[in-house]
Amino acid sequence: MSLPNYVFFRGRVVPYSDVKFGVLTHALNYGTAVFGGLRAYWNADEKQLFVFRPNDHFRRFLQSAKLMCMELPVSGEELLKGLIDLIRAEGHKEDLYIRPLAFDADEIIGVRLHDLHSEVSIVVIPYGTYNKNEEDMHVTISSWRRVDDNTIPARGKIAGAYVNSAFAKTDAHRAGFDDAIVLNADGHISEGSAANFFLLRNGVFATPPITDNVLEPTKRSSVGLAPRSAPSRASIIVLSVQVNSGRPPPVFGAFSLTSSAGASPSTEIGVARFTNRNRRPPRRNVRAYRWNKE
Ligand SMILES: Cc1ncc(COP(=O)(O)O)c(C=O)c1O
Repeated sequence: MSLPNYVFFRGRVVPYSDVKFGVLTHALNYGTAVFGGLRAYWNADEKQLFVFRPNDHFRRFLQSAKLMCMELPVSGEELLKGLIDLIRAEGHKEDLYIRPLAFDADEIIGVRLHDLHSEVSIVVIPYGTYNKNEEDMHVTISSWRRVDDNTIPARGKIAGAYVNSAFAKTDAHRAGFDDAIVLNADGHISEGSAANFFLLRNGVFATPPITDNVLEPTKRSSVGLAPRSAPSRASIIVLSVQVNSGRPPPVFGAFSLTSSAGASPSTEIGVARFTNRNRRPPRRNVRAYRWNKE
């Protein structure tokens, strides 16, 4: 991956190499940062980049910063304007990954959230698919449990908490899977390692409630837009799903959804397999599928 040419920093687009922080930076030592992960898609017909749901992402980004007691010197509108300036400066004509970051920047020793100075940056980089096997994910149920909301606020995108996601992802990868479904302490499905999770059963999409330690979703409502082949286009229910003995409940399909990867169908969850029939060609930005059980 090549580094960006520019970064949006302290309200301006500046050369990427101008922004430097030392190894004592608080966020680097203690995980005191929050971030976002958005996509922009290049539309070759219209010769334009389209950013997917930037306002929703910046809203969650600022909420996550509040959870971390950060006082950020920017509003959502300023972040959006900064992002547009940055995209123009970079001049890419391909799909992008966008990474806003807010981090405690003091170079000090001392674990805390108060009396710290936070900085904000955004970078954009050309990016294709997020997961290696996006059309046919084989996922396992992780033995790691998702961070609990009273351990680290799970609804915020807090950098330090991603060590939990990293454990789940790496264990799944080493066991030969593409990703893991992570349960909460009560044994309810919470999420993928870094994705919201959906089941399709009897024509209805079910997704876990926020109270099962889910990251505040930016795009749940996008699901209803996509699956033209689904019997009921916009039915999404919020449902706690208990996993017994490591087996998922009987379903017609499952997929994870993130802004980074779109909808990634799981054709195998642990021991259960699904066939991905009636698949429609992927639609831009939001893709979803219907499966029939084998
Ligand atoms: C833990 C976790 N849950 C869910 C998601 C999906 O979130 P969104 O598509 O709203 O960014 C992500 C995205 O990175 C994530 O890291």
